[in-house]
Amino acid sequence: MTNKPTTSNSGIPVPSDDQSLTAGTQGPILLHDHYLIEKMAQFNRERVPERVVHAKGAGAFGELEITGDISKYTKAKVLQPGVKTEMLARFSTVAGEQGSPDTWRDPRGFSLKFYTDEGNWDMVGNNTPVFFVKDPIKFQDFIRSQKRMPDSGLRDNNMQWDFWTLSPESAHQVTWLMGDRGIPKSFRHMDGFGSHTYQLIAEDGTKTWVKFHFKTDQGIDFLTQDKADEVAGTSPDHHRQDLFGSIKNGDFPSWTLKVQLMPYDDAENYKYNPFDLTKVWSQKDYPLIEVGKMTLNRNPENFFAQIEQSSFEPSNTVPGVGFSPDKMLLGRVFSYADAHRYRIGANYAQLPVNAPKSEVNSYSKDGNMRYSFNSPETPVYAPNSFGGPSADTNKYGDDGAWDFEPRFVRTGYIEHPEDGDFVQAGALVREVMDDAQRERLVGNIVGHVLNGVSEPVLSRVFEYWTNVDPELGKKVEEGVRSQQDETAPTTGAGAIDDPADEAAKV
Ligand code: HEM
Repeated sequence: MTNKPTTSNSGIPVPSDDQSLTAGTQGPILLHDHYLIEKMAQFNRERVPERVVHAKGAGAFGELEITGDISKYTKAKVLQPGVKTEMLARFSTVAGEQGSPDTWRDPRGFSLKFYTDEGNWDMVGNNTPVFFVKDPIKFQDFIRSQKRMPDSGLRDNNMQWDFWTLSPESAHQVTWLMGDRGIPKSFRHMDGFGSHTYQLIAEDGTKTWVKFHFKTDQGIDFLTQDKADEVAGTSPDHHRQDLFGSIKNGDFPSWTLKVQLMPYDDAENYKYNPFDLTKVWSQKDYPLIEVGKMTLNRNPENFFAQIEQSSFEPSNTVPGVGFSPDKMLLGRVFSYADAHRYRIGANYAQLPVNAPKSEVNSYSKDGNMRYSFNSPETPVYAPNSFGGPSADTNKYGDDGAWDFEPRFVRTGYIEHPEDGDFVQAGALVREVMDDAQRERLVGNIVGHVLNGVSEPVLSRVFEYWTNVDPELGKKVEEGVRSQQDETAPTTGAGAIDDPADEAAKV
């Protein structure tokens, strides 16, 4: 086989793959060896900043096929019966950095990008239907409490429980997190949720509130804390490996897309505020309706170009799908595109993995690294008299609108009769979990709390779980108290010997 010549990035054949240009055998390296300079400079710029959250993940391409019929609720072309749409999925952990183990206890991100005929539709959800907070102004504090201490750079459970117990709206999500679903067996063995309430808009303008659910066809499965700890040591990229390996072997994972639909006017009087992201809608009240199937069947060919640089944004909805008064969703609608402009660059949407497969007729122009552009005949401003693109307010103007009380306020959500921070968390423990699951829940909480949680946070932890369920609270307190003595530090600085002291003895 004849190898092709190595070239520089500009396509010029280079003189050597392995020897730099020097002035004589022992002389200095010459600055005009620009290929050497290009290699070193390019290497120094290989990384983009990792995502500020959800940094560690894996992804694959596939398709969504609509098998059901919700055409009377939405005009979205991607959701019409029989339509197949190419797509990308990225799954992730939240708090860990790029190299962190896949099996840490954490929610898992469930990001989907559908390359529809009407532009990209992104659904950037998690493997849980709820979230820790319900106002975007608390998100940054929440994330910092899950990340690392400013001095030691260590994660700190005391900080996590401090935030959670001072934010009782977190109880539902923390109950999910501490239960079996907090460590899925693999990305294939978990459900995905759009989480927020969205809107479906029909051809005649009728609006319906909707929740999206992606049910794993592989079955839900999880790892116990012990198993997850073991895998974190022996195979830290386990979930990435599992997804890539299954697809490579032709074992394509799939999820069934289902929706819950709520008539627009039901929202006002439903027992829970349907826009509060810490709550679910009862499936007895709003049953799941099957809509389609999503299958992942193609691995990335280049992890960096196609997964690391992929940019998902909740602001990408298509005609026929709109937002809701969920404040978290509305905050996210700003945040993601802003993050991409910083992380990837102003023209991130032109990268092949992010570019829509449908036509782009935008007035945006220029900026770093732009390479696609309008024809020179297209005017650079609107309105114009020369045939440039024009927006259709009659067709899309009312899309995604809803009624609200026109006043600037800083309040919580409107209280509905059965709203309460602990109501659904308690129901999850008592009505959804079985005895074995409840026992593991207690074990997981106790183990987590024993790892560094101290007063006054500790007392609040017992109160928090008692509010969720008195029996659970009692068991958590008993579990922690009974093991507290055994886990007390045995050396002055902590349970682990100070390596600096050891070194001093040599
Ligand atoms: C990633 C912000 C809430 C799911 C991110 C990123 C930011 C962010 C800045 C990094 C994006 C990037 O660099 O590519 C926020 C803010 C939130 C919020 C401000 C609240 C106001 C949520 C919620 C969910 C969620 C409620 C799930 C229901 C995700 C996922 C990713 C992500 C899955 C990873 C996206 C990917 O795979 O590239 N978030 N987030 N976030 N967030 Fe959020």
